Amino acid sequence: MPYSRGTVEDEAVHAKYHKAVVRGITYTSYKNEMMLKQFPEDNSRIMMLAYNQSNQFEKRKILQILDVIDTELNSVELSEQKLDQCKIYLYVTDKKRVEGCVIAEPITQAYRISREDKDGMQVEKMQIGTSNNGSAVFCFTKPIQAVCGINRIWVSRPNRRKGIATKLINIVREKFIYGCVLKPSDLAFSQPTGDGQAFASHYTGTMEFLVYDEN
Ligand SMILES: CC(C)(COP(=O)(O)OP(=O)(O)OC[C@H]1O[C@@H](n2cnc3c(N)ncnc32)[C@H](O)[C@@H]1OP(=O)(O)O)[C@@H](O)C(=O)NCCC(=O)NCCS
Repeated sequence: MPYSRGTVEDEAVHAKYHKAVVRGITYTSYKNEMMLKQFPEDNSRIMMLAYNQSNQFEKRKILQILDVIDTELNSVELSEQKLDQCKIYLYVTDKKRVEGCVIAEPITQAYRISREDKDGMQVEKMQIGTSNNGSAVFCFTKPIQAVCGINRIWVSRPNRRKGIATKLINIVREKFIYGCVLKPSDLAFSQPTGDGQAFASHYTGTMEFLVYDEN
């Protein structure tokens, strides 16, 4: 995580982030958790918590996890109102560590990314995301129907490129809507970072995947 040494605020944020990276985020069992899948190959599992059905203790844990993610992504924290609509998917190891997380929310529309080189300047486009965290992308202004928004996706740094995000998103597609398996194209990504764009284009099979503005 980049930071400027000497700035009190930056030092504090960095210290908090460093602590979370070194110690990891611990996971204890929760009353309202739902175990969705186990992976015997590494004794890990994917758990789901719905924020609006969580008790105060569970909510605090979710906020603690989100704090680590938002610190790394330089994102503004999600409001309680927004979180109430979200499902939280956690990748938990046998050491009771949260090594991956997806926050998914219901959405109705999203926008298709437009690649400058391919589409030229003739078509009207808009920017989603900001350039300060590298999440700026251009997309067509015509809304497209979408059902599931990936508001946050994060995997702990030492565990990246091991398929954890893929496992999490596979489960989201299977379980987000009861009795219906979503297609990769039913998903939209909120303001994807460079890593997020690399992952999403690989997962959906297109660099013109759907994005949406979470606000
Ligand atoms: C984006 C992120 C969640 C991906 O998690 P992950 O567990 O490493 O992803 P996976 O291992 O399932 O990746 C599947 C494929 O996506 C592509 N991919 C994923 N991350 C990539 C990267 N940083 N660069 C290039 N390709 C990447 C690769 O094709 C990869 O397959 P491969 O490793 O066999 O080549 C992770 O990099 C992360 O947490 N980044 C920081 C937070 C962030 O930026 N989140 C995105 C917000 S939109």
